[in-house]
Formats: sequence, structure tokens, C-alpha cells
Amino acid sequence: MLDDVRAQFPILSETAHGRPLVFLDSAASAQKPECVIEAMGHAARHCYANIHRGLYDMSERTTQAYEAVRDDVARFLNAADRREIVFTKNSTEGLNLLAHSLGNQLKPGQAVLISALEHHANIVPWLMLRERLGIELRVAPLDAAGDIDLTAYEDLLRDGRVALASVTHMSNVLGTITPAKRLVELAHHYGAKIILDGSQSIVHRKVDVQALGADFFVFTGHKLYGPTGVGILWGKLPLLEEMPPFLGGGDMIRSVSFKAATWADAPHKFEAGTPAILEVLGLGAAIRFVEGIGAERIEAHERELVAYAQERLEGLEGVRIMGRPVERGGVFSFQVEGAHPHDLAVLLDQQGIAIRAGQHCAEPLMHELGVQATARASFAIYTTCDDIDALAHGIERTRSLLA
Ligand code: ALA
Repeated sequence: MLDDVRAQFPILSETAHGRPLVFLDSAASAQKPECVIEAMGHAARHCYANIHRGLYDMSERTTQAYEAVRDDVARFLNAADRREIVFTKNSTEGLNLLAHSLGNQLKPGQAVLISALEHHANIVPWLMLRERLGIELRVAPLDAAGDIDLTAYEDLLRDGRVALASVTHMSNVLGTITPAKRLVELAHHYGAKIILDGSQSIVHRKVDVQALGADFFVFTGHKLYGPTGVGILWGKLPLLEEMPPFLGGGDMIRSVSFKAATWADAPHKFEAGTPAILEVLGLGAAIRFVEGIGAERIEAHERELVAYAQERLEGLEGVRIMGRPVERGGVFSFQVEGAHPHDLAVLLDQQGIAIRAGQHCAEPLMHELGVQATARASFAIYTTCDDIDALAHGIERTRSLLA
């Protein structure tokens, strides 16, 4: 049990429709521990000013605190250099940055490879790039279990025309943990660079970017118990150094005239404008919170929850779990006979249980699965087996209401 961890999330003592809150939508956005709330509040109350600009004490202290979070993130990801850490708005912005800054260098005849598991954030920027440049977009299919078909993935790389692969590290719909090291090896073997979308995996697994070996990794703060409005793009330094900026504006330049501008070094050339200062400080607190719990404990807790949910949901009449991947993180999509996912979500909400229902920003995957929508329960460090029992009872109650 993680009572000590749960106690750090004030929201978990709230009620929903007069019932204790059972929050099973952490893949959409996770709840925030007191230390994150406090870090942002403390800075706003006691030490806040714009960064990299002020010559006065408070600006210098805020700048130091902000830049210290870059060190926190570098340590957390085991990056080789703090300059490999770019602050973004979220994963979506990280992927759009790459689709412009790196993607715009592609030539017609080259291709980008994604997979059928992707979130819209890792599809739409590449569709837009295809529209701009006339490149090809290839999609690696899934096998029946919901894993990426590695033979097909390799076949799609084989002609050497894929310049860039961009693949999720964990599906937000099926929970599939993809074999990232193998995906990286194959991409590199055929001469492609590779991006991993770690929006979900960062919450559930120890991520060591040097061990994974990818070229880029993106994640977002708000799923990792941090605030909204801040995310991370990690990239190998030589690649970031070669890439042109994405957005132009203050703080990303070396010098500007009405004729031309030159850029600051990485990572600052990718950080135009005043950033999400308080949110970056909140992300730093979230990372230290997660490090304080420890990857081992997080992964053990997750294994227990996933095994329990698999057994519990499988044991329910009329429930079909989508996918059975080789390795699953704490995300389950399912369908309940006789209940549309939206109706199920509304009826569960009335019992104090929050799940997500719909397409989960993965409409193409819904088509692959042959469904319009699914119900989805997703877990976090504060989720308990009691929460899963509450969901199971809620589903049974809802089925009997609808019968
Ligand atoms: N990507 C988030 C989800 O899966 C919003 O719910």
C-alpha cells in the first residue's frame, strides 16, 4: 500500500457526487502532490520575476531556480548534458518543434515512419509535414495483441528512405509498452533518426535516454504529477546544435537587426519568449517527488495494479479488454456489452468513479481496433487495488441498471 504517497495528494480526500473520489483518468492528466502545489505557490509569493533578463536579485534567484530544474530533468533522464534539455509547452509542442526544425530538412522521396498506436500529437504534425513537403508517411501496423508488428516495422525501414521514425514508448489507449531499444536499433540500422514519445511511459517506467539510445524523447509535465503548460524535449546535443529554431522571439537570439538575426546556442535557441516559469519550478518539484518514491517502487506498484486489473476486469461478465500486449503499463481500454463507453463513463461518474471514454486522441487506432470508442481506466502512483474493485463493482452496477 502506498498510504504515505496518497496522503501527499490533497485532492484524493475530495468526494464526487457525495462518494469518495476514485480517480482512474491519470493518463489524461495526473493529480498533483502538495509539494508541486507548494513549489509554485511559494515562488509566486516569495521569489518571482522574469528569467534571463533581470539584473536584480529576485530575477537572478528565479533564473537560478529555473535553470536548476534543467539539471533535475537531465539527472532524471540520465541525459549526457544539461544542454540536451529543452523546455517546451508539452509533448505536442516537442513533436511539432521536431516536425518543423528537423522535419523541414527532409526531401520529397524521403519518409517518416510512425506506428498505428500513435496519439494524434504524433500523427498530425507529420501529416502537416507531408502536406508542406510532399514526403511519405508510413505507418507500422499492430499485431492482434496490440504490439507493434516488428517484422512490418523493419520492412518499412528496409529501403532506406525513412529519414525519421517517431514512435510511442507507451500507448495511451492499450497501455502497450513498446520495445523501444529494438525500435531504436532497427531505425538506426536503416539510417533513420528516431523520436520516442514518452508522454505515458515517463510516469510508469525508469527512462534512461542514454540506455534507450534514441535521438529524441518528449514528455509532458502534467501527466508526471507536475503542472500543465510545461513539457520536455530531450535531444542528443550534436543534433540540437545542428537544428534551426522553431519559434522566433526574445531569449532565443544572439543578436538581431532589421536585416537578420542569429541564434543562441541550444537549448536556448528553442525557448523563445517568456517560458512557463512557475510551471517549470512545479515540474522540478514533481521530478524530485517521483525520484523520492523511486523507480523500483513505482514499477513494482504498477505491476501489482496491472495484474490485479487484468484478472478483475477479465472476470467480469460482458467486459472485453482491448489488446493483450507483451508488456502493459497502467492503462486499460475496455468495452462493456450493452453500454456505450460515454454512457458508462457518465454512470460511473455518478458513483464517484472518473474514467475516460471516447477515442483518446487516437482516432486511427480506434479504426484499427474496429471500434468507435472505448472506456479507459488509467493508473498512477496513488491508485490502489480498492480503486480497481470500485471500478469493477461500478461496471456491474451499471450493467444491471442498463439491463
Ligand atoms: N493524451 C491524453 C489522454 O490520453 C489527453 O487522455
